[in-house]
Amino acid sequence: MNHSPLHLKMLFAVVLTVACFSAQAAVDVDAAKALAKQNNCFRCHGTDKDKDGPAWNKIAAKFKADPKGEEKLLHHLSSGETAKFADGHEEAHPILKSDDASANQNLVDWILSL
Ligand code: HEC
Repeated sequence: MNHSPLHLKMLFAVVLTVACFSAQAAVDVDAAKALAKQNNCFRCHGTDKDKDGPAWNKIAAKFKADPKGEEKLLHHLSSGETAKFADGHEEAHPILKSDDASANQNLVDWILSL
């Protein structure tokens, strides 16, 4: 076989594509959206639009590079810590009502992927 540089480049591109695809497949987007809907998260958050709370893609931008981002957001969603609203008032952030740890993690991973 003749492994010309072009062939190697194409092979590399295919490997990269497959790697990206399987990383994304780890998040079950439909399950994440369903859980968010059940918990009324979209009342205060858009995926890319601010409502009473910040858009989730902004939150993703803030936490994506943080190796502890996933952990911090899971804590945020289970602790009811004080949230600052767009109008300036503060109240406890709603707690994600699910005791399925992997479903909660899937939702956080989806938010981080936005
Ligand atoms: C009543 C309105 C409201 C609802 C409902 C709500 N949020 Fe929030 N959320 C906020 C506000 C306001 C903030 C901003 C908190 C801050 O920056 O102090 C926030 C922040 C966040 C953050 C970022 C936390 C951080 O540390 O910066 C995440 C993630 C989040 N919400 C996810 C969710 C999920 C998932 C749900 C559904 C279980 C949900 N929110 C439901 C208002 C809401």
